Amino acid sequence: MGKITVIGSSNTDMIMKLNKIPVPGETLIGNEFSTAAGGKGANQAVAAARAGGNVTFIACIGKDIFGDNAIEGFKKENINTSLIKRNNDTPSGIALIFVDNKGENSIGVAPGSNFELEPKDIDDSLDGIFDTEIVLSQLEIPIETVKHTASLARQHGNIYILDPAPAELLSDDLLKNITIITPNETEAEKLTGIAVIDETSAQSSCDKLHARGTETVIITMGSRGAFLSNSTHSCLLPSYKVDPVDTTGAGDVFNGALAKALSDGIGIKEAIKFANAAASLSVTKLGAQTSAPKESEIRALLA
Ligand code: RIB
Repeated sequence: MGKITVIGSSNTDMIMKLNKIPVPGETLIGNEFSTAAGGKGANQAVAAARAGGNVTFIACIGKDIFGDNAIEGFKKENINTSLIKRNNDTPSGIALIFVDNKGENSIGVAPGSNFELEPKDIDDSLDGIFDTEIVLSQLEIPIETVKHTASLARQHGNIYILDPAPAELLSDDLLKNITIITPNETEAEKLTGIAVIDETSAQSSCDKLHARGTETVIITMGSRGAFLSNSTHSCLLPSYKVDPVDTTGAGDVFNGALAKALSDGIGIKEAIKFANAAASLSVTKLGAQTSAPKESEIRALLA
């Protein structure tokens, strides 16, 4: 099994369940409230580790109780935390999350220390990173750090996966250094201007990203599954039917499990089936990291 390095954010999620998500100007009485470890980077690191991966997590986390708890949690998942930077001056990231009774969510993030992870921090960690097969990041850290990581990953011949979340416009310079990009439908539309509503529009969106330099595009399409496009494949790989409780972090679990499967050296279609199974299992539970399944659970669903 190859090594996986996840470079990204860590948040504490403050989660409220309500019958429906409030619109601007509206106050609603909700149901349960809970806090849980979150952040797209941390969620993906935990998902990859729980799926059986050998994971190093690189992040910038505040020197506060939220940060201490997060790092404690990573250690319990056997994630290598030796390259995590602590920041005295800026608090750890926080996310406020509403979840409605269909399991859909709405999220606001105060990034705090996540935005203090600088390109030079990646240079400082080079020895620890680039003996790795897979490098995985997202967009809850500064874009300059993402671009620098992508460029270094290209130079070192790593498989570089970017989950372009939250949605943001990306330059061609970055896109050409990405081996696999994994937008959801909203992110794909933001990146390409094409509304992804079916397989035809998904392929058109992928073609735009290929033309701008990205070799492999996987558009995650919620309960429909994941659309794969590269020079040899163009297909929708279906997800598994489940009753959703909370979709928060399903994309993160998909990316973490995808990284794990690819670190085993299996083909891209098999890796997506593994990731689809993991993401389907994750929506049956509340929370992001809390809902990431173990490898044995994923394999049981695939069997
Ligand atoms: O993708 C879900 C994550 O987005 C949450 O854990 C929250 O922290 C935000 O980063």
